[in-house]
Amino acid sequence: MTRPVRIAPSILSADFARLGEEVRAIDAAGADWIHIDVMDGHFVPNISMGPAVVKALRPHTAKPFDVHLMISPVDAFLDAFAEAGADTITVHPEAGPHVHRTIQHVKSLGKRAGVVLNPATPAKMLDYLIDMVDLVLVMSVNPGFGGQHFIDSQLRKIAAIRKMIDSTGRTIDLEVDGGIDPDTARRAIEAGADALVAGTATFRGGPDCYAANIRALRGD
Ligand code: DX5
Ligand code: ZN
Repeated sequence: MTRPVRIAPSILSADFARLGEEVRAIDAAGADWIHIDVMDGHFVPNISMGPAVVKALRPHTAKPFDVHLMISPVDAFLDAFAEAGADTITVHPEAGPHVHRTIQHVKSLGKRAGVVLNPATPAKMLDYLIDMVDLVLVMSVNPGFGGQHFIDSQLRKIAAIRKMIDSTGRTIDLEVDGGIDPDTARRAIEAGADALVAGTATFRGGPDCYAANIRALRGD
């Protein structure tokens, strides 16, 4: 079965000194979504960017902002990211005491809600959440850094979640994040993914390479 695959370049791998230009370039190169990795140095061992950066980037593209929050506690920041221009807000269940409530909050802000599973988190975690989310994100690396190796065991999880999603009869994006290159992209898609985050593989080589990098991930 073929389903359209959305490519979500992670600006974590962009040139931070030229972030607006980088977002415009990756948009023009064919990005479907802009993936924004938010890290707090507490939930993950790295610090990246906050709502002010999201707000500053918003005028640079009309593409959806796919905001991946790796911050804890997460709840106090949901409104700020919504106001800054996030379209999808994706949260880790470990990042707050009540993930169901957190997702309710994202929905109440009129935003698409995503839930993200770390490599050790079983698909079963979704049992009582899947009916309320718009996106499931499978981490194929441990969160915190770009440039890590794809963890093969996550392919089984992607396949299991594909079945769960199909059995809901709802449209729910199944996104994979970490270590995506043309080879792992193909394997993730075969397992059932329909959205791929890629930092290293999209921003590699500078702006002249972005369109070819994105095409290679689509298998074109
Ligand atoms: C990791 C982030 C990823 C990361 C992906 O915590 O969630 O989005 O930027 O980077 P690559 O594609 O280099 O693995
Ligand atoms: Zn991410």
